[in-house]
Amino acid sequence: MGLVNLLKKIKNKTSRFRRRSYFTTPSHHMGKFIIPKMDEILGEYFYNCDISEIEGIKNFEGPQKQLVHSQENASEVYGTKATFYLTNGSTSGILASMLTILRPYDKVLIARNCHKCVYSGLVLTNALPIWVMPNYNENWGIYEYVNPNIIEQFLELQPDIKAIIITSPSYYGALSDVEKIARIAREKNVYLIVDEAHGALYKFDKTIGTSALDVQADFCIESLHKTAGGVNPTALLHIGFESQIDVNEVQKSLDLITTSSPSYPMLASIEANIDFLSSKKGKAKIATLVNDIERFKKRILKFKNVHIYSQNNDITKILIKIDGFTGFEISDILLNKFNIEDEIANEKSILFICGIGTTSRKLNKLYNAIRKISKMKPKAQECDEILAQEKQVYPIMKYTPFMTKLLHGVKKPLIESLGCVSKDAIVPYPPATPLLLPGEVIQKWHIDNINEEFIEVVAE
Ligand SMILES: Cc1ncc(COP(=O)(O)O)c(C=O)c1O
Repeated sequence: MGLVNLLKKIKNKTSRFRRRSYFTTPSHHMGKFIIPKMDEILGEYFYNCDISEIEGIKNFEGPQKQLVHSQENASEVYGTKATFYLTNGSTSGILASMLTILRPYDKVLIARNCHKCVYSGLVLTNALPIWVMPNYNENWGIYEYVNPNIIEQFLELQPDIKAIIITSPSYYGALSDVEKIARIAREKNVYLIVDEAHGALYKFDKTIGTSALDVQADFCIESLHKTAGGVNPTALLHIGFESQIDVNEVQKSLDLITTSSPSYPMLASIEANIDFLSSKKGKAKIATLVNDIERFKKRILKFKNVHIYSQNNDITKILIKIDGFTGFEISDILLNKFNIEDEIANEKSILFICGIGTTSRKLNKLYNAIRKISKMKPKAQECDEILAQEKQVYPIMKYTPFMTKLLHGVKKPLIESLGCVSKDAIVPYPPATPLLLPGEVIQKWHIDNINEEFIEVVAE
């Protein structure tokens, strides 16, 4: 039947389920009581379908069983050993992956541009992070790919490293050579977790990027809500088809960190999302998106003072520079003059994230705005003279993030904190990559780049 059909059936006013008297949770009882004003926001249908496990009638399978079938179908679509639906974002998939394979003091090689949830995973597992710095592009002020040769060197020097965690695509769309990294991981018998939160369309259109699923990473985590049209925070956790990971252990890890009251409307939205992406219509929509973006990029490149980042990048991420303007200035003009909102800007560049909902009309609007900005007179400085702020120092860890949580902290003025150990993570959002980690020694770079007056350090 499928989760979507089940909910359709339940939502029906005349259904036996809606007419039943419930002395169960949730207490709105299929929308018989709705908190005032919420019907205007969510609509009563949401409540009609928001159920717990309910008793069925003959031959009827409850939502739990439908979920199991639905995930099995998804696993077939993606060609995985198992696929799990997530209603707490890629965050929960990354945490569950780490909890499945890492034990206290296990060494894990982590790309320094990872999302903050990887650092939460370190607190939960008490694993020992070894950092690998991705390539940094000074001209664009962004981190790019992780070099597979450097990963290989780390694994040779430290054969007790148990797992690798990389982000591909990066927040800015930079793709790492996941195929080579997966091969190295297999050869060295090391687990590979790929944060593919921004790559949920890859499986359905290989021209956008290479999915870690197609190169047999052990874990691949994708946010449906970022590029694939899903609602916040729907996501998927996939286990590679050939991986040795025990699927039951993954389920146990998910059970540790997820609710026992799942939202079936959200889970059904995941099922419908996958149905659409894998359908003819869905694939055609993605192909149109790719064409529209390619056309947009070609047209934009006709302006000599506008540049688009295109080195091995996910095509749906549009990273732009305009000579003489900082990314922040472009962002201000776009919002205030053209009512266009970007994803993120830095000193050098500005990022636009496209997804399944990006239309050619919207891209045209952006094109016209960029064209007009490219003809404006820049304020003053030459952009290339501005130093990018984001290149980070190599972390020196005194304690693991878990140990740091157990230690006492004291507040200190940031400028007096050189050599102290940070108690917390300092995480600008977006892109939610920590500038400073719990347990990390504060270096001059941190003092120069963190925008806080006080900081909590470990009391020593
Ligand atoms: C690279 C990356 N990984 C993971 C996440 C977490 O994803 P979610 O919001 O689905 O939990 C994000 C969210 O911003 C991200 O940018």
